[in-house]
Parts: sequence; C-alpha cells; structure tokens
Amino acid sequence: MNGRPQFLFVTCQVGAEGAVKGEMARGLPAARLAYARPGFLTFKLPERHLLPVAFDLHLVFARAVGFSLGRATGADQAALARAVWNLAQGRIFQRLHVWERDRAAPGERGFEPSITPLAVETARLVRQHCPEPQMLAPRADDLSAPARRGDTVLDCILVEPDEWWVGFHEAHSVESRWPGGMMSLELPPDAVSRAWLKMEEALRWSRLPIPAGARCAELGASPGGASQALLGRGLVVLGVDPAEIHPSVLAHPNFIHLRKRVTQIRRREMRKVRWLMADMNVAPSYTLEAVESIVTHPMVSVRGMLLTLKLFEWKLADEVPQYLARVQGWGYNVVRARQLQHNRQEICLAALQRPFVRKRPVRPRPRHRPPEE
Ligand SMILES: C[S@@+](CC[C@H](N)C(=O)[O-])C[C@H]1O[C@@H](n2cnc3c(N)ncnc32)[C@H](O)[C@@H]1O
Repeated sequence: MNGRPQFLFVTCQVGAEGAVKGEMARGLPAARLAYARPGFLTFKLPERHLLPVAFDLHLVFARAVGFSLGRATGADQAALARAVWNLAQGRIFQRLHVWERDRAAPGERGFEPSITPLAVETARLVRQHCPEPQMLAPRADDLSAPARRGDTVLDCILVEPDEWWVGFHEAHSVESRWPGGMMSLELPPDAVSRAWLKMEEALRWSRLPIPAGARCAELGASPGGASQALLGRGLVVLGVDPAEIHPSVLAHPNFIHLRKRVTQIRRREMRKVRWLMADMNVAPSYTLEAVESIVTHPMVSVRGMLLTLKLFEWKLADEVPQYLARVQGWGYNVVRARQLQHNRQEICLAALQRPFVRKRPVRPRPRHRPPEE
C-alpha cells in the first residue's frame, strides 16, 4: 500500500459506460470494475498501484475521475453529510465538488447534464457538517467557480438520494477544475442552435490558441450556433454547408457562407484558413476523409482543429485511438479527444500543430529549355 485509496470513480454520459470500461481495459488493465450504475462506475486498483495523486488517465469518455473513498449512506441528509466527512478521514481540501450522476442520455426528454440546484444545496449541507474549519477552505462549496490548478478537491457524487459516493482528485486539466467536469455555461438567448454550447465548451476545454481576427472554417455550419460562438471571439468564419444559415448569422460581417458540400470546396477557398472545425452529421470515417483531403493539401496550412465525431454506434468508441493516430499522422503533435458535457453520442477531437510551420506553396519552376541551335 502507498497510502492512496484502492479505488477510482468515474462519471460519464449514460450509455458511455461500455466505452469507459474499454478505455480502462486498454489504459489500466490491472484495474477491475467494482461497481456500476448508469453514468457512474468504480474500479479497484491493484494493491501496490503507483498512480500519483495528480494522475490523468486521458479517458475520452470519462467526464470526471478521482480516487474513490467509498459510499456514504445515512437515514437522512444530515447523516449522509456526516458520513462524507467520516470517509474523508481528516484530509484537507481546498474545494468541494458535488454533482448528480446523469439519469438519462443527453437530449433524452430534454435532459442536459449540468450542476443542479440539488447539487448546490447538498454542497452547502456538506460544508455545514465539516467537523473542523481547517478541513475545507472558505467558499470551497461555490460550485459555479472553478478550482485552481493544484487544489485538492473533495468529490461527492449523488448516485441515489440516499447513496452518495465520496472521493477526491487534484485539479489540473480544465475539466478537472469543474464539478463533475461540467462548466457553468448558459445558452445565450440569441443562439440559433445548441451547437453554441458545444463550440464554446470545446474552445474552453481545448484552449486552442486562436487569435482574434483569425480565419476559420466550419464544415457543417447550418443553422449557425457554433459559428456564433466563433464570431463572438472576433474570428472570421467560413461556414460550409449546403443547408440554410440563420439570417442573423448570415448578416454578420465576418461570416461567409459557402453553400456547398465539403467535397465541393475548392482548395484555394481554404488557403487563408488556419483553424478548421467540423460538425457534420456523418460517420467519423467521412469527416476524417474530408478533413484529411483539406489539411494535407500542399496549398492549405491549418494550424489547429476541433472536430465533432458522431458515434452512430457505441462500438465506434473502440476506434477512437485509431482516429487520434490518424490525425497525428497529418502532422498534428497535440491531439486529444473528450466526450464533452454538451456532446451527445459523439466526441470532440482537438488537434494542434505546435510549433506551427506554414506550408510554402511550391511554385512551378520555369522549364529550362536548351538554347535552340
Ligand atoms: C449537427 S448539424 C450542424 C450544426 C451547426 N454546427 C450549428 O452550429 O448549428 C450538421 C450539419 O452538417 C451538414 N452536412 C452534412 N453533410 C455535409 C457535407 N458533406 N458537407 C457539408 N455539410 C454537411 C448538414 O447539412 C447539417 O446542417
């Protein structure tokens, strides 16, 4: 034993449990599934595991991961809150994260994963039952603010009304700083589609260094919610889609509609594009084929990408490592993927060339003819 807990917890989208198990089997084969509910899993680690406190398993389908301290049970809310602190065993935390496990797949009966009023209320209750003031930093229970990098976070997952699970993690990545890996984002009233949420979350999660004024293209841009998020950051957006774009997006001076399929784009139309986004309702192989033909063209220099890959069948989750390797093969050295909070049965793949080396278009050299006799 190294003094660290013997179990991990993972929360994920309902339906993604099999994908998480597959990733764990590939990445941490010595871990064994211990407990599973829709949207919530725990894994037993080998006795002498070497996982550091600040571990990151880079699980695409896990929304949140941490060491598990066990299940809190109790006859009422106060007893449950006391049980949380019993499981915490005198540890000191800078933050408290409380969230409900998902009860439905995103979109099912309008369900959107988020921090619920119940989670906010429970965080307050857990704080009230903290036995020693020094065990929890002031305002640690504010779920609307992210943890700071390096904070130790007490995790409390409301799996059932009378069954909470307790764990902890050290915050480092963007997602690990938010309760349950869920950012507080609200769809603006003028957003023309919920794709605004997906794009905004993707930009914040990936932290792609896209400067204001840069030119980007979105493949599958209709009706235009994601483009609104990009325009809102001062970008010039080329929206590629045979379908109609919402008039409010079309009217934006920095938006250009290429009303065509991705296969009909001329490469010179992409010459000044440095950032490529894709959100087409097609199979991942089609999206990757289309993107490959653009970014590997000698006249096109794309520095980074955010690609939504639709997993029409969950078995496509096993192919994700191949998708990442394929994108790396095009010259992108930073490639990651995550099933975002606002993704449905799909993932977001982020890719970046660091450093960025612009391709120099090769001009045909004038033919050298031997002087005529
Ligand atoms: C999920 S919607 C995109 C939502 C959009 N990103 C937004 O922000 O509102 C998928 C879009 O992909 C487009 N699409 C499908 N196949 C395409 C192709 N081959 N080329 C371009 N667009 C395509 C569809 O017309 C559809 O508008």
